[in-house]
Amino acid sequence: MEKLRIGVLVSGRGSNLQAIIDAVQEGWLPVQIAVVVSDKPGAYALERAKAAGVPTVVIARELYPDRSAFEKAILEALNMHQVELVALAGYMRILSKDFIGQYASRVINIHPALLPAFPGLHAQAQALASGVKITGCTVHFVDEGMDTGPIILQAAVPVQENDTEETLSQRILGAEHSIYPKALQLLAEGRVTVEGRKVHIRQDNVEGERENP
Ligand code: GRF
Repeated sequence: MEKLRIGVLVSGRGSNLQAIIDAVQEGWLPVQIAVVVSDKPGAYALERAKAAGVPTVVIARELYPDRSAFEKAILEALNMHQVELVALAGYMRILSKDFIGQYASRVINIHPALLPAFPGLHAQAQALASGVKITGCTVHFVDEGMDTGPIILQAAVPVQENDTEETLSQRILGAEHSIYPKALQLLAEGRVTVEGRKVHIRQDNVEGERENP
């Protein structure tokens, strides 16, 4: 079977990209990382991609007259690499309605909180300031809002008494590295359907198959 071709959009460190690369190399994530696109020429994520032999493209915002021209360049790169699904991994820009329209229900993101709590920037600091005892991370489809799209997977992370933004972020990041590749696996295996706000995930029915040989 042809592997799902994904494009990963990054702006920085790229630890989630690395988790995806690792899962592909371990052999349990059936996707082809067709291209990594960065809006920042110095993003460390680009080094990670190169080390894994993944094609990279840098599309710097300041080289384009407006957002529309900038996003057109990104879309061209994605099309050129025949990308079927876009995964945002620390990509620090909001995508326009037009862009989302071109990849309707085919753009996903990872956010460091249990959405719909704490959308936007500094989600971990927001969680600490609010006094919640449990936070976590969310993989969701991207719609036109800020971290508002249908939720695919979540993982809970308890807040500890002495947590700082940094220590909490680190533990959440560990959970991110686990659920982002898992969510991609579910998508690549065609087990995900969306009905309004609800994302349905078809489970593997291994037990049932044994019962009915
Ligand atoms: C992660 O915390 C992710 O949830 C957020 O941006 C950060 C990206 O980290 N969207 P990295 O670049 O994947 O290391």
